[in-house]
This record gives sequence, structure tokens and C-alpha cells, in this order.
Amino acid sequence: MMVTVGRVRHVMSVVGARPNFMKTVPVIAALKRRTDSVRHTLVHTGQHYDDVMSQIFLEELGVGAPDVMLSVGSASHAVQTARVMERIEPVMKELAPDLVLVPGDVNSTLAAALVASKLGIAVGHIEAGLRSFDRTMPEEVNRVLTDQISDLLFIHSPEARDNLLAEGVSPQRVHAVGNTMIDTLLAMRSRISGAHAAAQRGLEPRSYLVVTLHRPALVDGSLLADAVAALDDIAEDMPVVFPIHPRTEASMLSQGLSFTSPGMRLLEPLGYVEFLSLVQDAAGVLTDSGGMQEETTYLGIPCFTLRDNTERPVTCSIGTNVLLGLAPERIREVPELIGRARRGGDVPPGWDGVAAERLVDVLLESEVGGGPELASAIGDVLGDVSA
Ligand code: UD1
Repeated sequence: MMVTVGRVRHVMSVVGARPNFMKTVPVIAALKRRTDSVRHTLVHTGQHYDDVMSQIFLEELGVGAPDVMLSVGSASHAVQTARVMERIEPVMKELAPDLVLVPGDVNSTLAAALVASKLGIAVGHIEAGLRSFDRTMPEEVNRVLTDQISDLLFIHSPEARDNLLAEGVSPQRVHAVGNTMIDTLLAMRSRISGAHAAAQRGLEPRSYLVVTLHRPALVDGSLLADAVAALDDIAEDMPVVFPIHPRTEASMLSQGLSFTSPGMRLLEPLGYVEFLSLVQDAAGVLTDSGGMQEETTYLGIPCFTLRDNTERPVTCSIGTNVLLGLAPERIREVPELIGRARRGGDVPPGWDGVAAERLVDVLLESEVGGGPELASAIGDVLGDVSA
């Protein structure tokens, strides 16, 4: 099999769900800034499709419309992942990128990486190497598998390299570039600071708690009722601002749950700038999100994570994150914990606003194998599976 190896000429970035956008956008911007000899294609799988979950981010971050929209929508894990695979394969075959870039750990990430890898297209994974060591989390499965089939593993956290090496990944594939999500935060900092989202809602700075909860382990079952009751309790003493994820809203509705305390401010999901503005002025954050643990560490805001584990231990060791456990009753301790919490603190190396530049350095220096030539060579050897 004759396969040519060469420099990257066409990068395809694949995004699908809300947390993907801010990790990928600075890379696209840096790539376009640095060279016009590398073509770029943005594919949106449509895993998230409501404007508040998707469109608003693309507009605020200034990316414009994706080049390709796959519109897969919501479904079971198997169906959603399969739909992305089925719809993205012809796109990759037709456009023949020689590198596919995927961020994070959502179903779209794994689906796109798997298709690219089987077509012989190189895969770059942004935010590689994070591990919660909890295989009941769909994201953990997505991370482990995506890392195994990625050629370039871009890490932003000190323990990520150890995690990857322990899984047999060769060190040459691992590149410590830093945190591209923090690039976005820094690029948007003046807009975030100018948004005054708290004041606009009549909230005093440092007086309120911001809440985001959406993980299946917490919101899909009976723990949600305990969380709602505990949030209602603390809202008697401090305002609680809760932009609710559609999954959580649907589960509250189906379980017949609602908030009663006047201190509870239930909101629609917010755009990036407005949300980060609220976080920046908050007394603290209660969350089960991954990205929030990092953003609060960067901003120096106390963060309480309602999970038993975290794939981002650096946010606890040097940042402002405290693991409460998957224990909704502990929400009642949060007002008191805020008083004693670390505010400020350190920021891990490479969380400095120029991670995307380092990532693009690696991309431009990399030799990637084959791309379309390899895909066709694999086809010649294996035959078309449908034949
Ligand atoms: C997904 C990711 C999760 C990430 C989260 C951020 C996986 C396995 N999970 O979880 O890692 O933290 O995105 O939001 O990929 N829905 C809407 N409108 C939308 C999108 C979703 O109403 O635009 C509702 C639907 O009822 C859907 C549910 O939310 O069934 C869940 O959406 P889905 O994309 O399956 O997973 P998330 O919980 O959002």
C-alpha cells in the first residue's frame, strides 16, 4: 500500500454540543490568522440545536454559520452517535480533509473521530487525556476511545499525559498546548466585564450563587427532587440563579418538580457572555459541569461540584474547586462553605490565552498520513463493507 505523508493542507473541525464551541473557535481563528495555505471546514453535527444551546454561541464567538450542518438532534446514545457517523462519513469522503479536529467528550466527538480514523484521516483531539475513571459516565467512554484513535493529543492539564501514557499512548502523540477554552474566556473578557449581567438582574456582586446541573446521574433520577428541595432551602438565605439545561427542565417537568422559594431565579440557558458575567460576579458556583470547574478556577470564583469524581483534579489541587460528592443534601452547606472557600488561587500552566497558537504550531509542523489516498488504499485492501 503506497501512502503519501505530508503537511496538513485541509483541517475539518467538528462541533456538536454547547461546550465544544469555545474550545474550537480560538483554534479556527488562530489557523486562519496564521496561514491561508490551510483550508478549514467547520462541521456542526446538530447534537445541540436550540438557539440558546448552539446558535447564540456561534454568533457571540464570531464564527458565522458552519460550512456543513448535519442536524442529528436528540436521541439515545447509540442512535445519536450512529447518526453523526452515518451523516459525516460522506462529508469527509467528499471534502477529503487530511486532519479532523474534535474537542472534548460529547457523543459527536467520538462519532467524528471514529469515522475519520476508519477513513485513514488523521485525528486531533482537543482536551485529551482527562479521566474521571468512572465508566458509568458517557463522557468517560467517549474520552478513552477518542484518545485511543487520535493521532495528535492536545492536553491542557498536567495529569493528562500520565493518564495517556498509562493507557499505552506513545509520548510522541501527546502535545501540551494549554487550555483553548481559556483562550476564549480571555478574548471575550472585556465584553464579559462590560455585560454587568448581575446588576441588570438587580443582584449585588458576591451576593448570589450560580447553579448549573445537567448530568444524567443527577438529573435523570430521584436525586433531582433532593437537589430542588435543597436549592429551595438555601434560596431563602441567598439568591440562587439557575439557568436551566433542557435535559434538567424536561426531567423536572416529568417528575412534577418546581421551585417555591422567591429567592430562586430560574432562567433559560444563557449566552456565553451573559453567563460568564454572572459567574464572574457571583459569590460562588454550584455545578456538575466539566467546563465550569475550569472557568471558575481561572476566574478565582469558589466552585462546588456535585459529583463523586472529577476528570479535572487540577481545579481542586490548585484551583477553587471543591468536590461535594453526588450528594444533593450537601447543597445546604454551600452558603457556609463559600465563607471559607479559596478565592483566587493558582492557574495551571498553559491557561494563558495563547493555547490555540501553540496548537496551531503543532498542526503546521505535523506530518499526517495519507488522508484521502490512505482512505482509498484502505478501501482497496478491505473492500467496501457494503459490497
Ligand atoms: C451533552 C453531552 C455532555 C455535555 C452537555 C452540555 C454527551 C454524551 N453529553 O449532554 O457531555 O456536558 O451536552 O450541554 O454528548 N435538548 C434540547 N435542545 C438542545 C439539546 C438538547 O432540548 O439543543 C434536550 C433534549 O431533550 C435532549 C436532552 O436535552 O434529549 C439531552 O441532550 P443531549 O445532547 O443528548 O445531551 P446533554 O445532556 O445536553
